[in-house]
Amino acid sequence: ESIQVFAPASVANVGPGYDTFGFAIEQLGDVITLTKRNDHKLKVLKAEGADLPTDPKNNVATVAIQSLLDYLESDQGMDVHIKKIFKPGSGLGSSASSASGAVFAANHLLGNPLKLEKLLDFALEGEALASKSYHADNVAPSLLGGFQVVRSYEPLELFRIPTPAALRVLIIFPDVEIKTSEAKGLIPKELSVKDAREQWGNVGALIHAMHSEDYSLLSHAVRDRIAEPVRKQLIPEYGKVKQTTLDFGAVGFNISGSGPSMFAFFKSSEAAKACMVKIEKMYQKVNLPVMLHLTKI
Ligand code: HSE
Repeated sequence: ESIQVFAPASVANVGPGYDTFGFAIEQLGDVITLTKRNDHKLKVLKAEGADLPTDPKNNVATVAIQSLLDYLESDQGMDVHIKKIFKPGSGLGSSASSASGAVFAANHLLGNPLKLEKLLDFALEGEALASKSYHADNVAPSLLGGFQVVRSYEPLELFRIPTPAALRVLIIFPDVEIKTSEAKGLIPKELSVKDAREQWGNVGALIHAMHSEDYSLLSHAVRDRIAEPVRKQLIPEYGKVKQTTLDFGAVGFNISGSGPSMFAFFKSSEAAKACMVKIEKMYQKVNLPVMLHLTKI
């Protein structure tokens, strides 16, 4: 018995929502195949598309599955095959895709004993192994889809917000690696009330803008006083890319998760396509490969 699932990549933080906002994107993600074994072993048979650990204690997918099995007091063995359609360390929630795809598939192989929301706990165990922190803003959209808001961590509570159907997202991934665990270390431990009030103003504005399809408000709301100021210097050509997207009419731009990927919101594909050409040339000049991906939420 076997199952194959696709778990999407995701954009976390989305400007003001550090560790609380995240949305799933199309096409990029992990394809996870699980097959029941006749023994009690969890085995990573193959990891395609990236150099991932195959030791089950160090692999995000098997750690997540193991925590699910422990909870269910099951010793069902499984073979795990992972195919990555994007790079780890890109800021698009690679570990979250592996972890959520793995727990979703494992729950299915076991006859769906648990509800989808409950699976978050186990996917987070996998995520924590890779990023050394419990943050749900990639795992939640990867597992549940759409634009998710983590309202609370203790207890873990989420809700989904709508997004405008016409909204397009341009993902820009300059090919350098940033480890989430290291990028997390840059985040300030404290925030002034002045910065905090600006941040929660934008959090409220972003949610309202998504509901009301108010692109002007959205473009003002996608700002960040917490992660962007300390992380942008890790991303080659950050300032130039940001300015270029805004010149081409982007209605919001920021770092995707812990970077180096960036995202820009556009009102239509046409505007985004013209911008892609320009950004491609920009990175050609500095001899850095860049992946550009235009997607919906
Ligand atoms: N919210 C997390 C962070 C996302 O910014 O560290 C990591 O992809």
